[in-house]
Amino acid sequence: MPSHTFTSSPPLKGRLRVPGDKSISHRALMFAGLAVGRSRITGLLEGEDVLATAAAMRQLGAQIERSEDGTWTVHGAGVGSLVEPHAALDMGNSGTSTRLMMGLLASHGITATFVGDASLSGRPMNRVIDPLSQMGASFEASAGGTLPCMLRGASPAVPITYRLPVASAQVKSAVLLAGLNTPGITRVVEPVATRDHTERMLTGFGANLEIGEENGERVIAIHGEADLKPMDVDVPGDPSSAAFFLVAASIVPDSDLVVENIGLNPTRAGIVTVLRQMGADIEEQNRREVGGEPVADLRVRHAALEGIEVDPAIVPSMVDEFPVLFVAAALAQGTTRTSGLDELRVKESDRIAVMAAALTAAGVRVEEHEDGLTIHGTGGEPLRGTSNARVKTHLDHRIAMSMAVAGLASSSGVEVDDTAPIATSFPTFMDLIEQASSR
Ligand code: S3P
Repeated sequence: MPSHTFTSSPPLKGRLRVPGDKSISHRALMFAGLAVGRSRITGLLEGEDVLATAAAMRQLGAQIERSEDGTWTVHGAGVGSLVEPHAALDMGNSGTSTRLMMGLLASHGITATFVGDASLSGRPMNRVIDPLSQMGASFEASAGGTLPCMLRGASPAVPITYRLPVASAQVKSAVLLAGLNTPGITRVVEPVATRDHTERMLTGFGANLEIGEENGERVIAIHGEADLKPMDVDVPGDPSSAAFFLVAASIVPDSDLVVENIGLNPTRAGIVTVLRQMGADIEEQNRREVGGEPVADLRVRHAALEGIEVDPAIVPSMVDEFPVLFVAAALAQGTTRTSGLDELRVKESDRIAVMAAALTAAGVRVEEHEDGLTIHGTGGEPLRGTSNARVKTHLDHRIAMSMAVAGLASSSGVEVDDTAPIATSFPTFMDLIEQASSR
């Protein structure tokens, strides 16, 4: 467990690029692995979570290679032609790999066992097991619907209409991916819109998808059995990774930083909206399209932030960004209130409880509620720091990086107990922090 103390930083300056979007990277490997022919992927995130997806797709019959210039080439197995893996599929820390892959396999007549690390093995899988069982797959999960879990796919599977009981892009995607190899029309009804990378990219790979609205709810229909055709994917930078730098530059005095090539799909960009509501100075430059997704460079300068009440309706578009938003709130003038964050309790860690403990250890006044945190900001004064305590990250990369950012605006530094999980989503994080703060 490599611990690290993050200390007060000089102004963050210059230009930097964060790695490729994690959600898009997983999908690019999976869909290319199902297309017949050769796809090329550039800008792929080479973090442990995505590498777990690549390894699993290889076990299922896709040929996947990386060339020295960082381009990934995939020769897909074809929808309906995945092969039974000889060994368990090790999903590491990655909930997205697990849930999307369960969807893929649910409509293939093969058996596979999913395993993961201690964090992933505590996370709920019934949210995908329920709809995929309705489609005909069967599961033997560990107590409470967790990993290790054996899946027996159905061939043919049965199309269903499934209304999402939780706002989850992973559950939506699992059902749609099962629908790819299911004869007939599989439909997902989404009462609250979640990230739409699956819909965008599957359409690009040639799947027949219809997106409509019924009674104010989004409805996505997929026609099986689909043939996917190969395509080249250019993965934009991950807004969830950029968020750490947007907050860091906002709270470290005199910072002026450009974060290049950030995906700004409206289903992901809530953090920019909320930081601006708090008074952040974020300017979009060079707006363009990359890989079918809106992208811009973001220039962020230090600003005096104000506490706000965060509208719960915006939660799905920034569900992964709350830990670092809490850090912004800790440096703001006044109080920030968040609610509607129940899903944060079942991420890589219980992000409400873990961030409440971490911020308290760093000297912040925080109140924890069932579905959110109330944070009393310092008005720009540096946080005290963790002096005689250590932040416990619980195998959660976003806790480690959020508290690293808190350390940059602290008097005595913030000690994070374990920085290893950062490699799941952002392997260059430590280098980029160093680079931006040594200009
Ligand atoms: C993801 C969806 C979100 C998010 C996760 C990635 C995806 O999870 O937290 O990091 O790629 O579909 P939920 O669908 O569980 O909200």
